[in-house]
Amino acid sequence: MPTNSKDIVLLAIESSCDETSASVILNGKIKSNIVASQVIHEQFGGVVPELASRAHQQLIVPVVSKAMEEAGIQKSDLSGIGFTRGPGLLGALLVGTSFAKSTALALDIPLVEVNHMQAHVLAHFIEEPAPEFPFLCLTVSGGHTQIVRVNAPLEMEVIGETRDDAVGEAFDKAAKMLGLGYPGGPMIDKLAAQGNPEAFEFPVSDMQGLSFSFSGIKTSLLYFIQQKGAEFVQENLADICASYQHTLIKMLLQKLRRASKELKIKQIAIAGGVSANSGLRKALHEMGEKERWEVYIPKFEYCTDNAAMIAMAAHFKFQNQEFTDQKVSPLPRFEMN
Ligand code: KG4
Ligand code: ZN
Repeated sequence: MPTNSKDIVLLAIESSCDETSASVILNGKIKSNIVASQVIHEQFGGVVPELASRAHQQLIVPVVSKAMEEAGIQKSDLSGIGFTRGPGLLGALLVGTSFAKSTALALDIPLVEVNHMQAHVLAHFIEEPAPEFPFLCLTVSGGHTQIVRVNAPLEMEVIGETRDDAVGEAFDKAAKMLGLGYPGGPMIDKLAAQGNPEAFEFPVSDMQGLSFSFSGIKTSLLYFIQQKGAEFVQENLADICASYQHTLIKMLLQKLRRASKELKIKQIAIAGGVSANSGLRKALHEMGEKERWEVYIPKFEYCTDNAAMIAMAAHFKFQNQEFTDQKVSPLPRFEMN
């Protein structure tokens, strides 16, 4: 693709967990987004950090080549390289970080570090309509559960988060207990669609303020399974999934409504892997109608981990000339503020 010297053409790399992804963005528009999901972890019922790192090493070159080819971009067209600095698994982050650093050095172009959780929120700017500022974003992934007040693309404030497990973990661990495999979120989602959400009752934790807690419901499911026995669980799998999921969604939306009322913000977004959940998407739309919110839900492909969101974040930072030194190292616990 012919580009001119004023164009901002970025290659972005995501390697924080078990997805190896690369994306090309031209003047703020995504031109390619290649995601290779590592299937190796399925047999272990969860992500094995060492295997994730090795798989990233094998996948990164072909994934980047495909992203460049699909976008019709040559290396010489690139204005900069964006990469996920954290949060995530150290060994996994190291692969993307090293690749980005060496490419930027070889091409003599700027390096742009991206916070993965900030990028989940900025996925909302990949396609129209984007939320208006300020907006609230419920960011729900495998490692995080946050309510974020977004004042500007690069000005975000975490106003509520979990005190223990992330909601994605509550999905994944429940799936493991129910023998549904990994990753558990999509499996529970699918089964829940065929079940009755009122069939069983699980405890709703109501922490103070805007904090979440998901460890109690996880333990209560464990006791439920032990008490009822394997046969009962198998026979009632869809109802159990529906009831469990329904309770998780209730906890999420209860806090989101509280945040909206307290901050008087009615522009409401969700982001992160769990925002792919069909029950949550539907419940958010329903609550949005009742509360007169403008609701923003990303396309499925931009909910779970992908490099397009990293590219979008890198574009905003590149415009601000927020570049990163070659001495940079990954930050497995990268706080957003
Ligand atoms: O954002 P993400 O892809 O990776 C992290 O940054 O953690 O989120 C992964 C999480 C996993 O816990 C996965 O089970 C969950 O998102 N997830 C879902 C669904 N799709 C992915 N949870 C519930 N329903 C889904 N459809
Ligand atoms: Zn993520």
